[in-house]
Amino acid sequence: MIVRLSNGKEIPVEMHKVRIVQKTFLIPVEQRLKAIEEGGYNTFSLRTRDIFLDMLTDSGTNAMSDNQLAAMMVSDDAYAGCESFYKLASSIKDVLGFDFVLPVHQGRAAEHLLAKVFIKPGDVIPMNYHFTTTRAHFELAGGRVLEIYRDEALNTQSTNPFKGNLDLQKFRDVIKKYGRDKISFIRMEATTNLLGGQPFSMENLREVKKIAAENNIFLVFDGSLISENAYFIKKREKGYENKSIQEIITELMSYVDIFYLSGRKSSCVRGGFIATNNKKYYEEIKPWLPVYEGFLTYGGMSTKEIEAMAVGLREMTDVNVAGSAAEFVKYFAERLIENKIPVVTPPGGLACHLDAKLFLPHIPWSQYPAGALSAAVYIASGVRSMERGTISVDRDPDTKQEIPSDLELARLAIPRRVYTMSQIEYVVDRLTWLHKNRDLVKGLKFVEEPPVLRFFFGKLTALDNWGAKLAEAFKKEIGPE
Ligand code: F0G
Repeated sequence: MIVRLSNGKEIPVEMHKVRIVQKTFLIPVEQRLKAIEEGGYNTFSLRTRDIFLDMLTDSGTNAMSDNQLAAMMVSDDAYAGCESFYKLASSIKDVLGFDFVLPVHQGRAAEHLLAKVFIKPGDVIPMNYHFTTTRAHFELAGGRVLEIYRDEALNTQSTNPFKGNLDLQKFRDVIKKYGRDKISFIRMEATTNLLGGQPFSMENLREVKKIAAENNIFLVFDGSLISENAYFIKKREKGYENKSIQEIITELMSYVDIFYLSGRKSSCVRGGFIATNNKKYYEEIKPWLPVYEGFLTYGGMSTKEIEAMAVGLREMTDVNVAGSAAEFVKYFAERLIENKIPVVTPPGGLACHLDAKLFLPHIPWSQYPAGALSAAVYIASGVRSMERGTISVDRDPDTKQEIPSDLELARLAIPRRVYTMSQIEYVVDRLTWLHKNRDLVKGLKFVEEPPVLRFFFGKLTALDNWGAKLAEAFKKEIGPE
């Protein structure tokens, strides 16, 4: 919730109490340098014991509520027909309005099943933007992802409130060019993760659905960050300021044919599902569920997580839960802007994103500025961020050429209800120091490059041994930690 202080300043305050905590450590800069060097300058290789604040992702790292933890105690472990599943199905019906539910172990498993059933080799799949796992699964099935965002989406210094909008004219052009039969479906991602958690508007979704329906194309909705997209509609779209998050979700869902999500974000639990009101689609996917995930009433999730998801879905419609990360991201971004640090604006749904092209303009894309920035942030602060740039884009499957990413971002995710304002202030301070010393940071080069989703396990090295020089400068100016 946002409160106005007596000096007129607005700040986000937590609408919860912290009753269980996890210890964290801030190791000296020399040890941080050693950890990142051993990890091949890839923050995915770091261990928790070497990390002070883990802002790699908000996926599966959110604080669960007391009611979620309580629900986990009463789960039913029956292999088939487990009661926990029916609680989840009833939450999905109440919150999202769908009758048919297929649980999966996490979001990418839903993408795998959708790709298997609906994508034929040679198909195209238009969408507002891809996510890494989405593109990997859709391409493995022989499809091609077409991103039809508006030009404004790639402007990191923007005031446009809905950079996740699909370009309607481009959508019409795609239908004309490829014909309905070559289009598997249209996919809308709420909010567009790789564009910096940018939402789409209700108006845009309504129009997308209209064009899709006129052309007999069904609409697939990735709702991994649905409560955040709904929160932005409430905050930014005219006519929705007095609607509840539930009312906004209900209208969003009225345009959707197939819904899926990674439950690890908005619903604060590790799992996922596909849901629909279309029996035909449901019946087409269902036989594959036990092959890849598990029986219909658990789909690869633990029954404890199913119980917690049933509660988490209802809780995400509380405006203070839906806005908990978004308001911290906004505060964080505004503090960084005050300190002249280039971040993606407007602030998005899941993280504060540093624009590495602007932060490190001296590093060319071929030397991975976002990867270098992410490693430098760790050395300077012990904070773990995630590279979201060219390292996160795999090579062209045919030509094997590198594909420069549209954006070069270092993502500092805000897991819901986990970090406090003083921790954010610490990060702001260390990033300000890093920005002043940015010339010390140079590029990276691969030493081990995996063939698919290379950002997970790739190992790189620092050109000109810049990591050691940065650590040395830090020690001199700030001290050992
Ligand atoms: N779709 C979106 C929009 C996502 O953000 C993610 C995951 C997935 C699908 C895949 O779901 O991880 O449960 O298999 N995003 C995580 C992240 C990994 O760090 O942003 P998953």
